Amino acid sequence: MRERSIIVTGGAGFVGSHLCDRLLEEGHQVVAVDDLVTGRTENLSVASRHGDAFGFSETDIRTPGLLDVFDRHRPDVVMHLAAQAGVRPSLEDPDHDASVNVLGTLNVLRCATSVGCRKVVYAASGGTLYGEPTSLPVRESSADGAHPESPYGISKKVVLDYLRFFSRHRSLEFVALALGNVYGPRQDPTGEAGVISIFASSMLAGRSPTIFGDGDQTRDYVYVEDTVAAFVAAMDRASGEVVNIGTGIETSVNALYTMLCGIVGIPPTPTYGPQPEGELRRIALDNAHAASVLGWRPRTDLAVGLARTVEHLRESYSPSADARSDSDTER
Ligand SMILES: NC(=O)c1ccc[n+]([C@@H]2O[C@H](COP(=O)([O-])OP(=O)(O)OC[C@H]3O[C@@H](n4cnc5c(N)ncnc54)[C@H](O)[C@@H]3O)[C@@H](O)[C@H]2O)c1
Repeated sequence: MRERSIIVTGGAGFVGSHLCDRLLEEGHQVVAVDDLVTGRTENLSVASRHGDAFGFSETDIRTPGLLDVFDRHRPDVVMHLAAQAGVRPSLEDPDHDASVNVLGTLNVLRCATSVGCRKVVYAASGGTLYGEPTSLPVRESSADGAHPESPYGISKKVVLDYLRFFSRHRSLEFVALALGNVYGPRQDPTGEAGVISIFASSMLAGRSPTIFGDGDQTRDYVYVEDTVAAFVAAMDRASGEVVNIGTGIETSVNALYTMLCGIVGIPPTPTYGPQPEGELRRIALDNAHAASVLGWRPRTDLAVGLARTVEHLRESYSPSADARSDSDTER
């Protein structure tokens, strides 16, 4: 495969750092751009072993300095993952959410076009794009007329129209990957979302996590390595479209909780809290389109992915880490 210059925005984050690792393994030149608001340089320790093939720029995507980064590295492809990536913070501060997710994205797209970048692969949100779906698994066509339940869902959705604009009028190709609930090693167990890391780290610390709502709400959990494979496929395949990246399988928070208890080796004793605002009841993403346009399908069974995630948390677990109990959040 031809070696490319690739910028990964949000490259120090959970998904972005795995993507950097994978692109570097495939021999590409990679620059991660991240302002480290939630991302961590520790996530880039594997990428940093690739020497000159990897660079990191601590830059806020909303700032004029982003153009210098693009100018220096002249990316062929931009993987755009930098975002205010939580539902709850978007409810508390929709202005900040829009500032990063809409205005920041516009800056990324402008910088990309001004240096002749060919394609943007965008991390869209399959968990919020469709609002509360009427039938499951939900297909990409259901986004028309759907209304996201949170400012985060709105900001992630409006970007799809900007991508179409830039594609039509600025010759910038795009693929928008509507991701399910991504999980796996490096997901922040102290963060706002990522129920699997939050539950598992709580259990490993000997605490019982709280399930917010009745626990019968469902999500489509997709393993991070599978997710990253979709970004890689989208560099060369598909154009001008939204593609669901999920398993098509609904898993309830109660079922997830019970599976994690089995892996960690503790009896299930769930406690329940109030249903949070802005969250869906059920979601699962139809992945037939991903199979046809990207040749992508999920490879990792939930039980296998959960075991790997727990293993990673066990290795990195320190009793002083303050992993808090939390609810599930669609992303
Ligand atoms: N993880 C999921 O389940 C999921 C689901 C659907 C969509 N997504 C999308 O995938 C992307 C990655 O998500 P993640 O789970 O890895 O989240 P994350 O928070 O780990 O990664 C986001 C990264 O963006 C960086 N960032 C935030 N604001 C920035 C700014 N102004 N300038 C530069 N960098 C900035 C953060 O520091 C962080 O490293 C996001 O766009 C998110 O909306 C994630």
